[in-house]
Amino acid sequence: MRSKIVAGNWKMNNNLEETEALLTELAAKLPDTDAEVMVAPAFVNLADAIRTLDGSAIQVVAQNMHWADNGAYTGEISADMLQSIPVNTVILGHSERRAYFGETDELLAKKVATAIRKKMRVIFCFGEELQERKAGTHFKVVKKQLTEALFTLEAKAWDQLVLAYEPVWAIGTGETASPEQAQEMHAFIRDTISGAYQQDVADKVTILYGGSVKPNNAAEIFSKPDVDGGLIGGASLDAEDFIAIIKAI
Ligand code: PGA
Repeated sequence: MRSKIVAGNWKMNNNLEETEALLTELAAKLPDTDAEVMVAPAFVNLADAIRTLDGSAIQVVAQNMHWADNGAYTGEISADMLQSIPVNTVILGHSERRAYFGETDELLAKKVATAIRKKMRVIFCFGEELQERKAGTHFKVVKKQLTEALFTLEAKAWDQLVLAYEPVWAIGTGETASPEQAQEMHAFIRDTISGAYQQDVADKVTILYGGSVKPNNAAEIFSKPDVDGGLIGGASLDAEDFIAIIKAI
């Protein structure tokens, strides 16, 4: 059985006080669920988030990390630093990292390899841009992203991987992929993985959908057979909305 996951990517939102308030509310209202629930606050608030969530099933994850073990990389955060808190899961390849910070699949392959070697779990994000969807190249683009960033990994590394398909045109825009579009791409992703590895690797990997998931569309998206949960941006900043999305899975 694949794990189901609902993860909230807070991006560059919430100071210390706001982080504590939102987490306290989420912990108090967390419904009974068989899904793993994760939140990704800003780096500076991760350690405090772990303390605030002590005793809660909500997991704290990071939004990014560097590929090097340590060294002269001013302003960067390593896997060891995260694990010492401890944070053992990291989001890599988010479209905002790709668009605003120049992260390429080649660089992401290095980050993923480091995280896997450090025994971390990775939520790897990828997805096509609007013009690629319009040009009908979305399958090709996604296949290339997966191939370049992930397909050099050994099959056993896939136990540490979670995928998050996030069409860029649906992120923060209020425009969601239809449940059918999400299912179609998720099935394609599984097919592509089974071609590169084995069917069991494809069957076991959790694939999240991300891009304007809200309380009013979550249930329909999550009902699709190859959609195993969601990576939630905007709606994860509101406790009521995030809880409603967790209840929808
Ligand atoms: P959104 O963001 O839910 O605000 O569209 C999703 C994401 O960036 O992971």
